[in-house]
Amino acid sequence: VAAASGHTVVLVDQSDEILKKSTKGIEESLKRVTKKKFADKPEAGAEFIKNTLKNLTTSTDAASVVHSTDLVIEAIVENLEVKNKLFKTLDKFAPEHTIFASNTSSLQITEMANATTRQDRFGGLHFFNPVPMMKLVEVIKTPMTSQKTFESLVDFSKAVGKSPVSCKDTPGFIVNRLLVPYMMEAVRLFERGDASKEDIDVAMKLGAGYPMGPFELLDYVGLDTSKYIIDGWHSLEPNNPLFAPSPLLNKLVEEKKLGKKTGEGFYKYK
Ligand code: 3HC
Repeated sequence: VAAASGHTVVLVDQSDEILKKSTKGIEESLKRVTKKKFADKPEAGAEFIKNTLKNLTTSTDAASVVHSTDLVIEAIVENLEVKNKLFKTLDKFAPEHTIFASNTSSLQITEMANATTRQDRFGGLHFFNPVPMMKLVEVIKTPMTSQKTFESLVDFSKAVGKSPVSCKDTPGFIVNRLLVPYMMEAVRLFERGDASKEDIDVAMKLGAGYPMGPFELLDYVGLDTSKYIIDGWHSLEPNNPLFAPSPLLNKLVEEKKLGKKTGEGFYKYK
């Protein structure tokens, strides 16, 4: 999305194999966007894809590419220790002015900022799946984020075509604080045997106007991601029934049924 809006992007991951898969995913996604956006102008569409891909390079070595970046957006595993280790390393190699942002779904931005020496140039930028389609970005300001950094993050969100909202550094920010307990309640409704998952999905689509039912959405987001979020909140507030872990969700994750990305979650995918 950043490359498509004219930004120079370096996509970093752990192996060339993952990067190849990611690039292929981006190409597929670009084709879908282009088909809609340039329906009557295939040539302009091809040009858009070419220019977007020109803005995108890849690397497996974050420390060696961070010297030329103005903004780092971290979107790695939802584990604070692992994130802090990465940020600590990048902090050593990044230029003074570079802003660090995390796309975390549920962890505290303040704790990550504290792993670096640039607490004032650190904030949250939380995107939503599928990013090319979802217009929202949550911009998170910690008590240490400077106004200038916050404004730069808001400007960047607008420059990539999104509508930013702001939220304090509280667990789940706005969307996940409401969405995750709702999805967990759906799982509990199903676990109690009150309704089938298919009926719950139909009910929320047709009765509440949601584009996907909660089980479809859980599979789409990834059951592992949902479990990371709920487990983290449960450890913060063990007595909050909205954050109670679900035996069924835990079992599916243990069986590596993580949703659409692994071919099976609550539903099976071809
Ligand atoms: N890349 C590019 N374009 C995409 C896309 C993607 N990944 N996914 C969908 N599209 C576009 C394409 O143009 C597609 O047309 P195509 O199928 O001909 O290629 C078009 O959207 C329509 O898609 P669909 O026909 O599949 O169906 P919908 O009209 O229902 O739209 C949807 C799909 C936008 C995913 C919609 O179902 C939706 O809004 N679902 C809810 C998503 C949601 O709630 N996301 C938030 C999750 S929470 C989160 O991310 C936070 C995290 O921290 C956990």
